[in-house]
Order: sequence, then structure tokens, then C-alpha cells
Amino acid sequence: MSENKRASFGGKLSVILVAAGSAIGLGALWRFPYIAGKHGGAAFLLVFLLSVLVVGIPAMLAEFAIGRKTRKNAVGAFREISKRWSWLGYSGVLCALFISGYYYLIAGWSLEYLVSSATGLLYNSSLPFTEQFNEFQGSYRPLIYGIIFILMTYFIVSRGVEKGIEKASNVMMPMLFVILVVMAVRVAFMPGAMDGYRFFLSCDFAEAFKPETIMMAIGQAFFSLSVGMGCMVTYASYFKKDNNMVSTSLNVSLLTLAVSVLAGLVIFPAVFSAGLEPTEGPSLVFVTLPEIFKGMPLPSLWSAIFFLLVILASLTSTISFHEVLTAYTAEEFKLSRKGGALVTTGISIALSAVTFFGLFGVDFFTLFDNVTANMLMPLGAMFTCVFVMWFMKKGFMREEITNNGECNNRVVGVLLFMLRFITPLLIFYIFIKNFL
Ligand code: PHE
Repeated sequence: MSENKRASFGGKLSVILVAAGSAIGLGALWRFPYIAGKHGGAAFLLVFLLSVLVVGIPAMLAEFAIGRKTRKNAVGAFREISKRWSWLGYSGVLCALFISGYYYLIAGWSLEYLVSSATGLLYNSSLPFTEQFNEFQGSYRPLIYGIIFILMTYFIVSRGVEKGIEKASNVMMPMLFVILVVMAVRVAFMPGAMDGYRFFLSCDFAEAFKPETIMMAIGQAFFSLSVGMGCMVTYASYFKKDNNMVSTSLNVSLLTLAVSVLAGLVIFPAVFSAGLEPTEGPSLVFVTLPEIFKGMPLPSLWSAIFFLLVILASLTSTISFHEVLTAYTAEEFKLSRKGGALVTTGISIALSAVTFFGLFGVDFFTLFDNVTANMLMPLGAMFTCVFVMWFMKKGFMREEITNNGECNNRVVGVLLFMLRFITPLLIFYIFIKNFL
């Protein structure tokens, strides 16, 4: 695609919704609640909040700057600036591949739940929700739904940036927000809800500041903000030149935080009200939320609406890492956009099958999740910060994020200071501390 023909996202709000669409997904709705449940509730929330502010936002800005400046896919962008740093782009592509290996499968779980809600099966069955979940996991349906999810993603990505990605995000994100608020209000009236708030909002500082917890929180921040693997580089390559990236990154982060907290406020009261364990793990959302709906009038309807929205939120995220791979394959191997999307789709199906069936007894779910969120993304973000602040010409970041001085303010100075020293050093320190 030649530079001037390259697509771009429309207005300011659209840019925020598209980037927030990538950010908000299973990370906030599914991963955050179960990890917070395991690592001390509000204590985790606090460290997560700090991670978003200190490492997430600065690193997101670094990616925005590189993407908008070069207007290329992740690999092309780093290579255009320096051949020696193109490996950072490849690390992003690798990360997108690993995420593709498991994210679609989990996103597919909500397809199953949408169908079983809509048909009434979920609430008419005599089996408890935990057993229904286990029965589902023991069948072939997770793989089938995972593949359907990949095909839905392909459909939108292959339609292009404006018609596909932008349109989808603009409708789906606001809907998600509204339904979450309705659910948070509803669950407040369930018996036992107080115990959930007590759990989620009580602070255990000893747990919160363990290196392991901090690493998990940093990993969650990167995963949830889609930062550290070239996704925001790719998306920013479709930004217009006058986009105020500082306010975009703040808005996206705030929205992601808000949805994570809302998810916690919905799920923990429900967990306690249903007498379940907050440390349940990855199945948390899928076995607890039906408990909320069961006590409401028209459970199947509410449940179907909710899982539909989880699907939509996940879809705006799968689109974004599919796009990282599509832009890469299309631009680097000189394929058409459709061709790139098709190759990406084939690889995603193959990887999901490997994860589903397993190979050599390896648990690919945990492996892919750990390697991406707790290793590749933090390290990718760290090197991206070092790259823009220490390798690029002096003043590059300031020029980019202020649009050549047009939107300068005090926050910019603070962000640049964090980017130069605090963000990379903090990631490095925690990373080393956690591994030694
Ligand atoms: N941020 C997305 C989520 O929370 C996941 C994601 C990670 C998307 C990395 C793109 C890139 O669901």
C-alpha cells in the first residue's frame, strides 16, 4: 500500500474507541477478575493502577509515536527507523502469534454461552454451572467455537480499517459499558454481595508489594492495554497526524481501568453470593455470572445479552492482534490485504488446534499466556521505551506527542521523564527480581 493511499481512522472519538476496543476485552473482563482474585483483591487493583500509570501509559505513547511516524506495520516500523532494532517488531509479531494461540479459544467460550443462554439450555439443565462448564471443556465445542471466532475476526479485518475495525468499535464499546453498569447495580442487591465488596476492596499490602504480584500486575497492565507487542504501533499507523496522542492514551487507559473495576464489582459480589471461590481461576466468569442471571427474571435473555457483549469486546481485541499479523504479512510479503488476512487466519486456526489438542503434554494455554503477558510484552515495552528515548534523536518523543509543540502541557514533561528513566528501569528491576 503506498503511503498516501494508506487508510486512516476518522475522528478523535473514533480513535479512542478503536484503541479502547483493542485494549478492552478478555483482559479486563476475564483475566483481571481471576488474577485479582488470586492475588489479594484490592491490593492487586492498587498495584495494577500504578502499573497502568507508570509503565502502561508511557509505553503506549512510545508505540503510538513510532506507528504514526512511520505509518507501517510493527516490523516495518522499527526497521524503517533502524535495521538493528527490527527484532523488536518481530518480537511483537511472535507475541501476536502466541496470543492467537489461546485467545480465540477463550473468546469462543462466550459463543458457547451465548448459544446455550439463547436456547435456554444453560438455565434449564439440572447440572450445576461448574459441571456444565466441565462438560463443555471435555467436548470438541471449544475448538469449533474458537474457529468460528477466528472466521468472524477475519471477516471484519478483511473489510479494512475504516469499514471494518472502526465501525465495529464505535458500536460495540459503548454498548458494553452500559450493560456492565446495569449488571453492577443488579448484583449489589444480591444476598451476600457485601462479602464480595469486602474481598475486592480490602487491602493486603504485604501481598500487593511482593515482586511476583507486581510482575503479574505489570503483565496485566500490558496485556490489558495491548502494549508491548506492536499492536499500538500498528493501530497508530492509521492515526491522523493531528491526533493528540497523550489524551488518547489517557482516555484509553482510563476506560480500560474503569471496565476492569466494573468487572470486579460485578463478579466478586456474585461469587460470594453464589458461595463460590474467588480463586476459581480461568473459569471464574463463566461459572459465576450465570449464578447472577439465574436469580433474575428472564435469565436467558440477560445472560445472552451479556455474553454477546463479551463476544463483541473480545472481537474488537482479536481484530487488533489479527491486524498486527495481517498488516505484517500483507506489507512485508507484498500480498493483498485479503491475502494477508487469509494467511493470518490459517495460522491462527492451526495454532488454536495445537493448543486445544495439546502437544507433548504441554499446557499451551498457560504457556502462551505466561510467555506473552509476563515476558514478551514487558520486555518489548521496556526496549521500546529505551529505543524512543535513548536511541532516537533527542526531542523525537517530545515532538511526536506534542504534535510539534501544538499540544504541549505539563503532563508531557512528566511522561517524558518516566519514559526515559522510570518506566524501563522499573520493568527491568521487577523482571530481574522476579526471576532471581
Ligand atoms: N488487550 C486485549 C484484552 O485485554 C488483549 C490484547 C493483547 C489485544 C495484545 C491485542 C494485543 O483483551
